[in-house]
Amino acid sequence: MATKLTPLKRSEKFKKGEWHPLSWNDHKVNQLPPYPDVDQLQKVYDQLRYLPPLTTSWEIESLKGKLAEVAAGNGFLLQGGDCAETFDACNAPKIVNTLKVLLQMSFILIHEMGIPVVRVGRMAGQYAKPRSKDFEEVNGVKMYNYRGDLINSFEPNEEARRPDPERMITAYNKAALTLNFLRALSDEGFADLQHPEQWELDFMKNNKYYKEYEMMVHSINKAVSFMEAITPNQFNTLHKVDMYTSHEALNLYYDAAQTRRVPRKTGWFNLSGHMVWLGNRTRGLDNAHVEYLRGIQNPIGIKVGPPFDLDQIVELIQKLNPAHEAGKIVIITRFGVKEVEKDLPRLIRRVNREGFPVVWSCDPMHGNTFATSKKVKTRNFDDILNELRATFDIHRAEANYLGGVHLELTGDNVTECVGGANGLNEEGLNRNYETYCDPRLNYEQSLEMAFLVAREWNASYKR
Ligand code: PEP
Ligand code: CO
Repeated sequence: MATKLTPLKRSEKFKKGEWHPLSWNDHKVNQLPPYPDVDQLQKVYDQLRYLPPLTTSWEIESLKGKLAEVAAGNGFLLQGGDCAETFDACNAPKIVNTLKVLLQMSFILIHEMGIPVVRVGRMAGQYAKPRSKDFEEVNGVKMYNYRGDLINSFEPNEEARRPDPERMITAYNKAALTLNFLRALSDEGFADLQHPEQWELDFMKNNKYYKEYEMMVHSINKAVSFMEAITPNQFNTLHKVDMYTSHEALNLYYDAAQTRRVPRKTGWFNLSGHMVWLGNRTRGLDNAHVEYLRGIQNPIGIKVGPPFDLDQIVELIQKLNPAHEAGKIVIITRFGVKEVEKDLPRLIRRVNREGFPVVWSCDPMHGNTFATSKKVKTRNFDDILNELRATFDIHRAEANYLGGVHLELTGDNVTECVGGANGLNEEGLNRNYETYCDPRLNYEQSLEMAFLVAREWNASYKR
């Protein structure tokens, strides 16, 4: 259970039972360890409440509008990034590489599928992690498990693992720096991405899709040159690309402190990011995370994987989106390749029977994690791909629209997932294994995935 905050000093009064940013504090909280010092927590909370917002209500509404289009079958959602961002990785090369791989993946999807792609990064706030156990033992000492830089330190000692509220201020600062750089890059600096020298495909020469990639990049560049030649001025405006941010709403103190009302609009906005999601382990109907999320205007992702109960999922969607607003709910299924055929069809049928206008997205990562004999956490590229394929097949068979993917990836050449066209094996994993949390697709695997997503989508929905 989380610590209760001391009553919030506020000018407005809330009726009993009425939602407000801290109403979740009366509910059972999972996945959030208690902060030992309540006064310090209150101090940090009050400080965070008055800092300028990271995003605006207009951006959030614009994302919701785009997701409504996706729900209607007129677009595709590409959501991806780190499993957990770390404070140390808030630096130019990491941010550039993640943005670059997401942009390139989106270009592949747009080019191959011919529909708009909505880009949402697991970026600028993805600092907290759910864990299966609260504690672990290192060299005989019992300590809190690492729950992401937003909560405690990765360093394995008792003191460093204690939840520290000051980390919320650091997270806010790092998120602000990340977002500032993302905005600058998306505005102007990345225009050249559309030029061939930016597609570093050389190291992909052994990939079996290399020829196809090369042809596609060639075709994108031809289209770009053509547009630049005939409309040099207007084309400039295409240099601005939209990029939204998202994170799991896990540390509710962090999210609540940045949940605000804005002038001339009704409702509350979580201005720490654009979209937030509810984890598979925190979606209990009467629990704190659901109470918090039911009060905000942002688009909300709901992770659904085993174990789940159909009636509960229906109630959850109803609770989070009572007005049935399109673009508000993204169902992110993460069953794992072994369970997807058993679980997904009945979920689709039930949600559709209720008439909810949701975006369906597939997270083929979180149901396919395993440990090697040397206890290295990994995922097999083929499992990821096979869950994705099965998910496309099932949606098509149900005459339903799969409108997105949710991936853990990086633009760096890490070795965390086995398989892929280059066939990384278990022995190769320690060559460049960086993640503190879940294994991510590397640059090559990510581009390959984009290509394969486009293929599957075309097989199901090509216009
Ligand atoms: C995640 O997306 O990082 C995550 C922990 O997912 P899930 O809640 O689906 O396990
Ligand atoms: Co993860």
